[in-house]
Amino acid sequence: MGYVGPKPAAEVLLGGLKRLEYRGYDSAGIALADDGSIFLQRKAGALRVLEEALAKSPPPVSHMGIGHTRWATHGGVSDHNAHPHTDCSGEIAIVHNGIIENADDLRLELLSQGHILRSETDSELVAHMLEHGKGDLRARLSDVARRCEGAYALLVMDVHQPDRLVAVRRTSPIAIGATESEAFVASGAIALAPWLGECIYLDDGEIADIRPGKIEVFRLEDLQPIAKTLHPIEGDGAMPDAGEHGTFYRKELMEQPIAWRRVMAGRLDELGQVDLSQDGIEENLLRAVQRVVFLAMGSSLHACQMAVERLADVVALPAQAELASEFRDTRNFLEPGTLAVAVSQSGETIDTLAALRHARQLGANVLALVNAPGSTIARESDYVFDLRAGFEISVASTKAFTTQVIALELLTAAFAQARQRPLPPADLQALRAVPTVAEDFLSALRLPKDLIDACAAAPGVIFLGRGQDLSLAREGSLKLKELSYVWSEAFAAGELKHGPLALVDQRVPVIVCATDPRHAVKLRSSLAEATARGAYGVAIGSELGATLQLSLPLKERIGAYLLGALPLQLLAVDVAEARGCPIDQPRNLAKSVTVE
Ligand code: F6R
Repeated sequence: MGYVGPKPAAEVLLGGLKRLEYRGYDSAGIALADDGSIFLQRKAGALRVLEEALAKSPPPVSHMGIGHTRWATHGGVSDHNAHPHTDCSGEIAIVHNGIIENADDLRLELLSQGHILRSETDSELVAHMLEHGKGDLRARLSDVARRCEGAYALLVMDVHQPDRLVAVRRTSPIAIGATESEAFVASGAIALAPWLGECIYLDDGEIADIRPGKIEVFRLEDLQPIAKTLHPIEGDGAMPDAGEHGTFYRKELMEQPIAWRRVMAGRLDELGQVDLSQDGIEENLLRAVQRVVFLAMGSSLHACQMAVERLADVVALPAQAELASEFRDTRNFLEPGTLAVAVSQSGETIDTLAALRHARQLGANVLALVNAPGSTIARESDYVFDLRAGFEISVASTKAFTTQVIALELLTAAFAQARQRPLPPADLQALRAVPTVAEDFLSALRLPKDLIDACAAAPGVIFLGRGQDLSLAREGSLKLKELSYVWSEAFAAGELKHGPLALVDQRVPVIVCATDPRHAVKLRSSLAEATARGAYGVAIGSELGATLQLSLPLKERIGAYLLGALPLQLLAVDVAEARGCPIDQPRNLAKSVTVE
């Protein structure tokens, strides 16, 4: 976060950092220009710890500063590794997101030149490299950026260059905005919302000179000026509030039906007709597609795995869901007619972005399904499907995941329609009804204490599924791990006898996802194998003779899948609370994973 202008900079920086807090971090700091020198305060721990330190030794009234919340990569979590970092003279300060991959070589070079390095971070090196060179700050930063390999968003201030910040981007996001009298920079537009209605986004290989009322952007390569487009900033700037729900995770879990209605609005009519032309997805595009490759990570990948099942089943269109982090290194061709679909809540996940760029190089058209239409993944795609799930603050995804499932079902239906084999209108009309059914289901949904206690005390929890339910099992397992830190794993039910059954005893709950009734008979046998060994068995969907049967009020496959996700999401938070875990920001995790 950066600020130049008449307001007290410390307040603006802390206000912006608070709005980025939900992304996860482990330390925080600010640097302020103070009459020819730099005031620096950095603290390991929550922003609150930094605020307490600032209350004890109040910062100067300054009109230029930068701030940062760090998520440790190089160097442990400590005050001295927290950003901002300064050069030897303490006159230049920098903050950095990303990883500088040639840091070892740069460090040796700087040490041999006599620089005093005070942290173990790769980031600090940039401050010292800026001491060298000729020209003004922009020229120096562009020289330094060219020497750094890896990914970065860098924001720099120099006390000798008042009223000016300089930022450069390679891969990690930067949003910038200005009014006549002030300028703001942040790694996400949400941090700018209290002060600005629109902003520009730096693209890769761009450097920005930022002054009140004036933002100039240049190509890093040759320093040619670039005209940038202003994008609206969503939200009214009010600090989001979890209200009666206590945590954002519970709030977002409960507000899913609203998000589901929003993603369908204008795309699915009462007659069961799908129209994605508002997203630029026309029938002729869909007809030309021979194969779909989904690229995503985490929960977003699970939504894609469900879509692969659906495309195979109802459209007979070959599709695969690829772990984006593997795709770039393992794929060197794509069949002609391949549509790459990048699915990402944040639109900034670096693995997904890298996979998207690779797919493009291999000749694919790219469609992005994102919850952030101004994000990098959206800007680099040919088509953008906005999920409209609303802001998701909890690090663990709930409504973004289920909204992705609906968006992908709409895409499946559009493929089917374009190929003259439309889904039965009754199925799509039923999809429109799911939010209302879910509201009633959610308001009555409670999990028994003995299940929560069993999971909270378990050495591990096993999730099972077949077909679409395997992706649901994976999602249930991921949620439980993230929130409660209980070790868990998802298996295809058929795999159980081939090894994992050795893990099962009376301490290991086994949760079977059974939202597709076609697999009920086989799932019943798998569950019986586990309960015969004393496991606490849970069935979600079809009746399987489990210790706990959680039936769902819808039988249609997609409707049952969406409803089946809800008890899994609830189980994760109930177990996490029973174990005293923080809910919205699980340890070690970040909301927007912008490092590989
Ligand atoms: C799980 C979760 C993560 C994300 C993953 C991809 O609850 O939130 O697994 O799904 O990091 O993030 P996006 O969707 O932003 O690309």
